[in-house]
Amino acid sequence: MKFPGNDMITVEDGVLKIDGYSAKELAEKYGTPLYVMSENQIVRNYRAYENAFKEYKKKTGKDFILCYAYKANSNLAITRLLSKLGSGADVVSGGELYIARLSKVPPEKIVFNGNCKTEEEIVMGIESNIRAFNVDSISELILIDEIAGEMGVVANVAFRINPDVDPKTHPKISTGLKRSKFGLDVQSGMAMKAIKMALDMDNVNVVGLHCHIGSQLTDLSPFVEETKKVMDFVVELEKEGIKVEDVNLGGGLGIPYHKDKEVPTPYQLAEVIINTIMEYEDKVDLPNLLLEPGRSIVGTAGVLLGKVHHIKETPYGKWVMIDAGMNDMMRPAIYDAYHEIVPCVLREEKEVVNIAGGLCESSDVFGRDRNIPKVGVGDIVAILDVGAYGISMANNYNGRGRPRMVLTSDKGVFVIRERETYGDLIAKDIVPGHLL
Ligand code: LLP
Repeated sequence: MKFPGNDMITVEDGVLKIDGYSAKELAEKYGTPLYVMSENQIVRNYRAYENAFKEYKKKTGKDFILCYAYKANSNLAITRLLSKLGSGADVVSGGELYIARLSKVPPEKIVFNGNCKTEEEIVMGIESNIRAFNVDSISELILIDEIAGEMGVVANVAFRINPDVDPKTHPKISTGLKRSKFGLDVQSGMAMKAIKMALDMDNVNVVGLHCHIGSQLTDLSPFVEETKKVMDFVVELEKEGIKVEDVNLGGGLGIPYHKDKEVPTPYQLAEVIINTIMEYEDKVDLPNLLLEPGRSIVGTAGVLLGKVHHIKETPYGKWVMIDAGMNDMMRPAIYDAYHEIVPCVLREEKEVVNIAGGLCESSDVFGRDRNIPKVGVGDIVAILDVGAYGISMANNYNGRGRPRMVLTSDKGVFVIRERETYGDLIAKDIVPGHLL
């Protein structure tokens, strides 16, 4: 069995190992459901971007800054690890900004995204002296200018543009199409209008452009189209005397959820982006380049372990019921996402089964008609590639605490998030006096 993207996974004598630790033993020691994140894999994924985009600085003399997208996985140990590696942060809420600051990310490497920033969040961003707010609407621009004015400072703004590019991914994770809620439309002149407004404002400083067209992109051509459209707009702005210092092309690179399908690497991404930007060398002063990948940094590094509690045979198929559920990992339920499922002890005999969680929802199914090595009650199965948008989208549905998470590394295995208790489930509930 091959696990492209999951270099931390090996199979030794039929036993699945993560960074050399038996997945079954991890499950026994730390309980299930259990998230396992590999430090080594995160480091490898981060370094791949770093090495690939070194070329940008070499060729242009301008900076490349990677701002890891916290929404993918904002566990403090993970964000601190990435901060130590030199990563910046793409945050989309006061909460994520709080975590980025705790993780000691330098403010000049923090960008603030999102289409509905609140006053409180804008104040927090200004106080944190972040690199830029990526402005999503004129209304937001006016609010940032007002708040910065009240605070007696000048806030850095970049403009999220909507380039109308089809990212050829799942509709629910496409973000740069005309009818999407994100960004300022370029074609109609809306983006230009917003930028010109900003230049007339006293309390904002225009630093750049931002764009993000979607997630889990497995084809590079939309990135090329995006880069061209952004750079064409940079040219247009320069003609108007407006200098663009930063160009942020968002995140979006896919990972190999399907083990038989290849996806582009950060090196291939770097090649097409850098080549496309270099085509503008004679037309404009080239900008600093920012990227904010999430999934391709942490996605392949995570595994969710669940224990088989029941097996049910029906005339229509066999069901393997595990104690991980859609509350722990929502992706299959809400996007019909495919995740590889592998038993932690790989027997020779295979059979076709459906693997489901235990929630009272028909969509709580991790995989249908999967031909996998035979499992029995008490066995542990691993759901792969859950490091991104797994724990960060987990919830308490059906009265279930979010799972424990461990980090495997060369230094050992560390609990990086405790399992939630029944007490945690009601910790924020308040029963009024007359109901006591
Ligand atoms: N920047 C912005 C502005 C974004 O909206 C996103 C993701 C990213 C960066 C990071 O994109 P990535 O490199 O991770 O593709 N919950 C969904 C994914 C939603 C992505 C939303 N935006 C899923 O589980 O597939």
